[in-house]
Amino acid sequence: MNFELSEEHLMIRQAARDFAQNELLPGVIERDDKMHMPPEIHRMMGELGFMGMMTDTRYGGGGMDTISYVLAMEEISKVDNSASVAMSVNNSLVCWGLEEYGSEEQKKKYLEPLAKGEILGAFCLSEPEAGSDATHQRTTAIDKGDHYLLNGVKNWITNAGIASVYLVIAQSDIEKGHKGINAFIVEKDWDGVELGPKEHKMGIRASDTHSISFSDVKVPKENLIHKEGFGFKFAMKTLAGGRIGIAAQALGIASGAYERALQYSKEREAFGKPISQFQAIQFKLADMLTQIEAARALIYKAAWLKDQNEDYSMASSMAKVFASETAMWVSTEAVQVHGGYGYVKEFHVERLMRDAKITQIYEGTSEIQRIVISRSILRD
Ligand code: CAA
Repeated sequence: MNFELSEEHLMIRQAARDFAQNELLPGVIERDDKMHMPPEIHRMMGELGFMGMMTDTRYGGGGMDTISYVLAMEEISKVDNSASVAMSVNNSLVCWGLEEYGSEEQKKKYLEPLAKGEILGAFCLSEPEAGSDATHQRTTAIDKGDHYLLNGVKNWITNAGIASVYLVIAQSDIEKGHKGINAFIVEKDWDGVELGPKEHKMGIRASDTHSISFSDVKVPKENLIHKEGFGFKFAMKTLAGGRIGIAAQALGIASGAYERALQYSKEREAFGKPISQFQAIQFKLADMLTQIEAARALIYKAAWLKDQNEDYSMASSMAKVFASETAMWVSTEAVQVHGGYGYVKEFHVERLMRDAKITQIYEGTSEIQRIVISRSILRD
């Protein structure tokens, strides 16, 4: 057993850290306030190779392992979770899904520009009445011979306004239940695709979240992913990897908040000494780092299993539920260590605390992760 990161891993982590500290930190508060992410940031992330890290180099990706992706996600998420969620969706849900299940033509046409970060993708599964209960898709894609006719509404779609390509999950045969669900590649510019207003969110405020409606959108047959009836499994398999990315985001939130709390506790004096000298603060710091290291171990294990081509579905849900609860708890404690300063924007921890909450909700709530874990336990 080896806990050491390779030279390459350390370089990737350093590159992501430099990018986050030099390019993302300045302006992060303003972007959060204005709910706006300038396109240059995504362009830069693409050029630096952060948008298709695990995709094979044949398709314009970085050809890296999942641990590398986790390391980069953590560093970027210490600073800007609106940037890291766009990265996570593009890498784990869109690029991975297309690389694993797309046809060669689909890979050439869509995966290459996505993995290079020239364009962005979005993953459209959630609906107004199908968030956790993902088998109950109301969006329909009816086979019309030479195309499918897509109708319905998708909700809370990350990257919706800035993505050019949507992976859309829809019901094609209600009689077959989840086995009648398909996955499609849909282009944003097609007739009948309409963007809803931007969501006003508690956290990850600069990330671009909208509903999308599809009205009689003609989807060519060649844009079906993999095969008829594979849509629900496609979503589940893709989300299993996506949960490693969101777990890494949560780890970044927790470690970013912890680092700020540690630093502050050494600088801030009260009752004649730095507050780090008080056991009340020392115990908080000790508990924060212990939780973070436990989350890190679960995430690395899930990433390692994925890289070994082993089943990682239970491991990724364990990593996600634990890391997201850690992010929420550690960031709340970091605000507490900062006292009144923690409650104002300039000290960054209140933003991390707001961002932490979404990691317990998207890509499956904490309750959904427990369902996945318990079903794996009982199946074995
Ligand atoms: N891999 C392969 N197949 C899987 C699977 C997996 N990980 N998980 C389930 N399946 C298969 C099952 O084997 C079953 O197939 P069979 O009938 O052939 O045996 C089929 O899928 C249906 O599974 P279930 O009966 O378990 O389905 P269910 O309805 O009881 O619940 C669930 C499954 C785990 C609750 C699922 O609905 C789920 O994960 N829900 C949460 C959805 C989610 O994460 N949404 C997030 C939206 S995307 C997002 O947030 C992105 C973003 O913008 C950041």
